Amino acid sequence: MTEVAATSALPGRAEVMLADRFELRVHRGAALTGEDELAAFIGGAAGALTLLANPVSRTVLERCPQLKVVGNVAVGYDNVDVAAAAECGVWVTNTPDVLTEATADLAWALVLAVTRRLGEAEEYLRSGRFRGWALDLLLGTGLQDKRIGIVGYGRIGRAVARRAVASGMEVACSDREPVAGADPPARQLPLDELLATSAVVSLHAPLDASTHHLLDERRLRLMPRGAVLVNTARGPLVDEAALVRVLESGHLGGAGLDVYEHEPEVHPGLLRRRDVVLLPHCGSATHETRAAMAELAAANVIAVLEGREPPAPVVRGR
Ligand code: DGY
Repeated sequence: MTEVAATSALPGRAEVMLADRFELRVHRGAALTGEDELAAFIGGAAGALTLLANPVSRTVLERCPQLKVVGNVAVGYDNVDVAAAAECGVWVTNTPDVLTEATADLAWALVLAVTRRLGEAEEYLRSGRFRGWALDLLLGTGLQDKRIGIVGYGRIGRAVARRAVASGMEVACSDREPVAGADPPARQLPLDELLATSAVVSLHAPLDASTHHLLDERRLRLMPRGAVLVNTARGPLVDEAALVRVLESGHLGGAGLDVYEHEPEVHPGLLRRRDVVLLPHCGSATHETRAAMAELAAANVIAVLEGREPPAPVVRGR
């Protein structure tokens, strides 16, 4: 019987979908973060359902010659060596669309949390310092009539833009592709100009060699004094040490981060700051969304192993 290996327990109906058709092995322990342990677990499986923490490298692909399809349970697939997969003839699939709204909600929650100082405000109350309403208590920054600069105007970027429009913001974006006709419409600008003119910048670009440290110290300093950075995409898009320096210099108004350059480690300089809201990579973390992601990943793997086109291909295999 065809073997499928899932590197984590899968929510929703995903495990049933797979176990009905294949011999399913599920790894239920700590994440497989090493190449050796990942390759050993996948072994002779024809399909693998993988998480962001699993390094699906060339070594892993070469050590698992039976593998036909990698079903990454995420929209991002920077944990997979897609060039090596293409060379090895292995399909790679992802889980777009189903997580768009949940991730945009969380990005928007971070915009509000930073600009309205929600972390500080909650800590103020819980520590017993709230003595009553005051005109100058915990003032934040309003969003109305200000510009949000969205870096990467794909599905999630546009979903964040819809939330920004509802809050009365003007939307501008930067993207590798022309965004004419996108909904909602956004003024497309070169990245430097976008950064220099936005009160809030939200990152939604994929991570690859060309976007690593896309926001380096020079670009962070282009942002207007008091501007806010939100990153729910991938940590290495931002030079984290540079971000700490720029925050410490008082140039930025704060940051909302769900992802980190050396995840799960967080730069100690960020942990110290009260103008930074830090979340543990939970952009898509709703029961509904995680079930939908797992089920889409299962549908991708099933389709390939049954000889059909998967719903969400990234790399076409043989
Ligand atoms: C993804 O899907 O790429 C996220 O980072 C996890 O939801």
